[in-house]
Amino acid sequence: MVKKSRSGESVYTTSCAGCHSIGVAGAPKSNNKSDWAPRLKRGMDDLVKVAISGKGAMPPKGTCDTCSADELRAAIEHMTK
Ligand code: HEC
Repeated sequence: MVKKSRSGESVYTTSCAGCHSIGVAGAPKSNNKSDWAPRLKRGMDDLVKVAISGKGAMPPKGTCDTCSADELRAAIEHMTK
């Protein structure tokens, strides 16, 4: 059976909102254009890569160990809208 992938909103709410909703430890805040604009310039592929490996206080896969790259991408798209 094919595992149904979770929506970006669901991954975001479960794994990312804790830090990204209020900007814990300098995390870019969800849906804050000025926090995300310089990062989005590097391209979504690069952001997905960094999200998988982690960076500074950003834990690998944003603590969602079971997330696929596609699920992480959907979560990033959700918080950069
Ligand atoms: C424990 C807190 C924490 C959690 C949980 C967390 N993040 Fe982050 N995130 C950070 C911090 C802090 C940064 C800023 C890192 C930096 O620029 O040094 C960051 C940065 C990022 C960036 C930008 C990376 C870059 O190259 O500028 C992306 C994309 C990201 N997080 C995605 C996610 C996703 C997706 C999730 C959930 C699956 C998540 N994060 C969960 C703390 C967190």
